[in-house]
Amino acid sequence: MAPPARSDRAVFISGASAGIGQALAEALAAPGVTLGLLARRRDRLSALQQRLEARGARVFPYSADVREARAVGEAVRAFHRAAGRLSLVVANAGISESDALSRGDPSVMSDVIATNVQGVIHTLAPAIPLMTAQGGGQLAALGSVAGFRGLSGKGAYCASKAAVKTLMDSWRLHLEPLGIRVTTLCPGWVHSELTAKNPYPMPFIMSAERAAQEILRALEQGRRTYVFPWQMRLVVPLLRAVPDRFLPKYE
Ligand SMILES: NC(=O)c1ccc[n+]([C@@H]2O[C@H](COP(=O)([O-])OP(=O)(O)OC[C@H]3O[C@@H](n4cnc5c(N)ncnc54)[C@H](OP(=O)(O)O)[C@@H]3O)[C@@H](O)[C@H]2O)c1
Repeated sequence: MAPPARSDRAVFISGASAGIGQALAEALAAPGVTLGLLARRRDRLSALQQRLEARGARVFPYSADVREARAVGEAVRAFHRAAGRLSLVVANAGISESDALSRGDPSVMSDVIATNVQGVIHTLAPAIPLMTAQGGGQLAALGSVAGFRGLSGKGAYCASKAAVKTLMDSWRLHLEPLGIRVTTLCPGWVHSELTAKNPYPMPFIMSAERAAQEILRALEQGRRTYVFPWQMRLVVPLLRAVPDRFLPKYE
């Protein structure tokens, strides 16, 4: 099944109030496109809604926390009712925090897993019966280059992104025969609120706008796993092969 064209789409994006999710919504906004935008910060979603509606898109904002399965499921189903279809769901909401292992406190790491892994499940699973009933669709989630190797100080984050990739690989086996495409998007560094706090060098960092263009191209091409920018496609095999002592330290 060919992915739908950029216009005439109904696209639901989690984590749309900032960074990559917001840039994706901006890149998609056009007449004929219906957008469902989910995040916790209602004020930012409202401002974005106004901007995107001025460009001709229909926009439905949903203020919810991806850690809450019921709230996210209700938002996905409400969007499907409002739009009349569901072409693409992008589970993009995510956080990145250091493990802070010396504190011995699991709460931050639990939060990373709850947001980045359970949040993806909460966002994508409710779309599956809706897409099956309509005869197909596309599911996407944000992994990361960090999901290909455990890194010092970022265990929970790396584990969360490895889990997303494995989850999507597993789901694809079941969903592709039903006409549902399943894509894991694995960026390197992207300028956003998430990376603004990082004190260390971030090689090949790109703008959120460029990341959005890369993502849309990968989705149109129906990629299964897409690592970007291109330099990171060279870094990933190195990252997997390099001895521990040569790995960068993030804590
Ligand atoms: N930036 C990078 O270098 C990079 C690299 C690889 C992968 N990624 C992944 O790309 C995705 C987007 O990252 P970003 O850089 O755009 O981050 P960002 O600028 O910090 O934006 C994160 C978005 O997720 C939302 N969010 C966070 N926790 C949420 C929750 N519990 N419930 C609902 N929404 C929540 C935030 O909205 P609210 O705060 O309003 O809820 C915001 O809209 C993440 O999954 C991240 O891991 C980023």
